[in-house]
Amino acid sequence: MRERFSWHQAQDLIEKHTGPALSARPVQEGYNSQIAVVINDTTFVKGLRTEHPRAWTQDRERQINPHVHHVSARLLWSDTTSDWDLNGFEYLHGRQPDYAPTGRDADPIIAMMTKFPPAPADVALKQAPDRWASYSDRAELFTGDWLCHTDWSPGNILLSGDRARMLDWAWPTQGARWIDPACWIIWLIASGHHPALAQTRASALSAFATAPPAAVTAFASAQAAMWEDIGESAPHPGLAAAAARWVRHRTS
Ligand SMILES: Nc1ncnc2c1ncn2[C@@H]1O[C@H](COP(=O)(O)OP(=O)(O)OP(=O)(O)O)[C@@H](O)[C@H]1O
Ligand SMILES: [Mg+2]
Repeated sequence: MRERFSWHQAQDLIEKHTGPALSARPVQEGYNSQIAVVINDTTFVKGLRTEHPRAWTQDRERQINPHVHHVSARLLWSDTTSDWDLNGFEYLHGRQPDYAPTGRDADPIIAMMTKFPPAPADVALKQAPDRWASYSDRAELFTGDWLCHTDWSPGNILLSGDRARMLDWAWPTQGARWIDPACWIIWLIASGHHPALAQTRASALSAFATAPPAAVTAFASAQAAMWEDIGESAPHPGLAAAAARWVRHRTS
């Protein structure tokens, strides 16, 4: 649910870290942050009220950042007061990827995915089988030792030059390495890809090309059930249908 606050409510706290805000550009993309603003074209500040029920996602992004800043934006500072929980990231220039079949952004995205690290031992991560247990009776097949981002909304990816970066590590999950390409496939199908073409693109990643087929099919089914359950709150209206279409393609 979108509930942005004016960044001015946290101005003193922000300026403590950035110095005087000579420019401030609120970011429209994204839903979860109560503050999302670019300060001085150098810092992207993301924040939730400290009493917000999901304020803990801010802390998880802080913890995971040292493990992913090579494929993401570097965390410059963070601050938590009785009012605000803020993270200040390096501001990245770029554009969102084009997920349409005619889009030409697959290569940098694949190159980025090959650099996702194993699950770090020092961060308490949600386990993939637990995360999707209520949507699958074969969720144990999602087990793995890799760090998965799982939210492949194009708004979470920035392309600059020939490089892609993955933002918004608010839901990092430990699981099989093929889970991220599988999540990406569902977005590609929802954006117009035939399931066969989407799978061909993802198969450039050996982790996906060699994934156990039954596990991938079970995961696609779980995603169809999950997006159906999320319903109108989904970030794209076609995700449930895309995942269901992928399942039919794999099982027919
Ligand atoms: N480091 C960055 N540099 C430039 N732009 C960024 C950066 N981080 C995020 N953005 C932009 O701000 C938007 C919102 O950021 P982000 O997705 O992290 O937060 P959010 O509000 O929690 O979003 P969501 O609803 O997807 O969870 C992104 O979609 C992206 O357009
Ligand atoms: Mg986001």
